[in-house]
Amino acid sequence: MSSHKPIKVALLGCGTVGTEVVRLLTDQAADLTARVGAPVELAGIAVRKPNKHRDVPAELLTADAEALIASDVDVVVEVIGGIEPARSLLLAALRSGKSVVTANKALLAEHSADLFEASDASGADLYFEAAVAGAIPLLRPLRESLAGDRITRVMGIVNGTTNFILSGMDSTGASYGETLEEATRLGYAEADPTADVDGFDAASKAAILASLAFHSRVTAADVHREGIASVSAADIAAAKALGRTVKLLAICERVTEDGGESISVRVHPAMIPKSHPLAGVNGAFNAVFVEADAAGEMMFYGQGAGGAPTASAVLGDLVAVARNRVHRGRGPRESAYAALPVRPMGQTPTRYHISLDVADRAGVLSQVAAVFAEHDVSIAAVRQEGRVDDASLVIVTHAATDAALRSTVDKIGGLPVVREVVSVMRVEGEEL
Ligand code: NDP
Ligand code: HSE
Repeated sequence: MSSHKPIKVALLGCGTVGTEVVRLLTDQAADLTARVGAPVELAGIAVRKPNKHRDVPAELLTADAEALIASDVDVVVEVIGGIEPARSLLLAALRSGKSVVTANKALLAEHSADLFEASDASGADLYFEAAVAGAIPLLRPLRESLAGDRITRVMGIVNGTTNFILSGMDSTGASYGETLEEATRLGYAEADPTADVDGFDAASKAAILASLAFHSRVTAADVHREGIASVSAADIAAAKALGRTVKLLAICERVTEDGGESISVRVHPAMIPKSHPLAGVNGAFNAVFVEADAAGEMMFYGQGAGGAPTASAVLGDLVAVARNRVHRGRGPRESAYAALPVRPMGQTPTRYHISLDVADRAGVLSQVAAVFAEHDVSIAAVRQEGRVDDASLVIVTHAATDAALRSTVDKIGGLPVVREVVSVMRVEGEEL
């Protein structure tokens, strides 16, 4: 039996994730006591509508989150989501010395500076493993296990809804609209899928990943963001024809140029080779590929969402902060000392796959190639397939700045010999 006084927990929110947090806390109470060295006691649950929650003990429920935080709790677990009131509630908790565990990526991607400042001022812990990639242990490895290495790249599938849609389009050949409808029917996409399909959710996660990987402060506003709504069945077919597949990637890269360093943080659909480890990540799963100087390449894979998987990450953090309280220790603080600048997307080196319908006659290829040369974009591969009186031309470039690539595509689209720019997609995950 433990002699330490109980660690009292305030739970803010009892929806998809919160309900599972309550279940795990209850079902595993004895094990948690043994692991922490003190009982972990649920002192109260703040929700919007206490009457609606019949599955949790009524005496724990309250609509007054502020009062719950101000009571004699040690740890505040926030699974409400959104910016307010979560931000004010967590600032109040941290300022009064209560450890915080949160799954709220939107909040961390916008207000981490304020939260870390409050955490530093009082010495209280701020943990947020569940905010990126659900159950997958990813932030702790970046923040702690790899703290002695130099991370160069973090590239991953961090949104299950969009991965479900793109995997579906790849396997059935169906359109984006049809596959989104199917994802909504099956409960993978929310009634309003904007945050997922327009890349907002992945951009928040990319900001958190880049901040940790590169010891710099990156917010969601710094992340170049493109969603999947414009990915067409033709894009998917073009990728397939080249042994590639299309994924929505969150990419955080260290860019070294002229002796200086910056970071590129972006979320966009891209073609990756079928042989790349991320290509085999299908359905609603998440996976993140990390490259570091000494460690080399690593892959983290698992369930990126859902009540129980996300609650697993929340409980892991809860055990960590509870242990810190028992042993009077403290977890890692913010590490933003490197303060690397985020480079604009236009200056970011990337590669394009461009598929064109062109007239099939002498000189067409040289006209198209001249536009690439004019913009200093080097061509890595060209494939042409003739049809009756026109041809399909597929061009894959070497790396060039995104601005140069965009201008190239714009100008090519205006050439009289080009009937249609069928597909333009970035290419990742291979050296050409
Ligand atoms: P839900 O919408 O299912 O639950 C939100 C909960 O917060 C509800 O219980 C709601 O109360 C409560 N709530 C809302 N407003 C207030 C308020 N002003 N004061 C007190 N309580 C309030 O959200 P999820 O469980 O899905 O998500 C929670 C967090 O976890 C979010 O930050 C989300 O991004 C993150 N997350 C979620 C994942 C998932 O798969 N669901 C995966 C990874 C992270 P009431 O029930 O009474 O309305
Ligand atoms: N909506 C997110 C997804 C889950 O589809 O992955 C929470 O991060």
